[in-house]
Amino acid sequence: MEIIIQPTPEAGGIIAARIIAKLVRTKPDCVLGLATGSTPLATYRELVRMHHDEGLDFSRVTTFNLDEYVGLPPEHPHSYHAFMDEHFFGHVNVPRARIHIPDGMARDVPAECARYEAAIVAAAGIDLQLLGIGTDGHIGFNEPSSSLASRTRIKTLTERTRADNARFFGGDLAQVPFHCITMGVGTIMASREVLMLAFGARKADAVAAAVEGPITAMNPASMLQMHAVAKCVVDEPAAAKLSRRDYYRWVFANKPDWQRIA
Ligand code: GLP
Repeated sequence: MEIIIQPTPEAGGIIAARIIAKLVRTKPDCVLGLATGSTPLATYRELVRMHHDEGLDFSRVTTFNLDEYVGLPPEHPHSYHAFMDEHFFGHVNVPRARIHIPDGMARDVPAECARYEAAIVAAAGIDLQLLGIGTDGHIGFNEPSSSLASRTRIKTLTERTRADNARFFGGDLAQVPFHCITMGVGTIMASREVLMLAFGARKADAVAAAVEGPITAMNPASMLQMHAVAKCVVDEPAAAKLSRRDYYRWVFANKPDWQRIA
């Protein structure tokens, strides 16, 4: 895994946006896996800026989001559909027909999950999957003990994740759904490249366990150690518990020119 330590979440978000933009420019019909939460916000802001100021064109891009809450319709203000519209899709030119987010209102959830997996396959797979990480090491909504081979399915959120996400529901824990549909760890691992972001001291333990700990279902992000093309962008507080952080900084500072991020 390549660990990229940046001074601030803004700087980390810009690096991530540059990695994504480079892919969009070199492969205009690429398939992006997208994430929600506060972590990718700076990345979306920079991609929107690049769209407006530099003409970054998403007209042939296809997207698949990681997850959605069960029971929230797309128009619900706290649904991930609404989140993505507010922070990204409403400001760039990804065609509606190419946007995929699990349907949290599906009556037949297993059928919806199978449909989602089939849609990813029909799009020839995900080129780059953007990820955050939960304070408990979850990716998507794959909570600790999730199968490391799992595919898109329903999951029950932990109390910790519900409490972490209550801030998106006006701080009202009672409003946070108990269930979600999420890509599995296996679905994420099938993408050709993964880009995980983590900012803030709250993430330091989860990041250290994911990057330097054993591969374990108790920290689903640790499975990314098995991915051949995985990058992890962190700010200083999130990197604080990485024992080899000086080495990661040295590697990043001494990359050959051809490997530098545009
Ligand atoms: C959420 C999402 C994840 C996200 C994580 C961290 O619940 N399902 O995709 O990466 O938890 O959230 P945040 O970025 O707000 O800290």
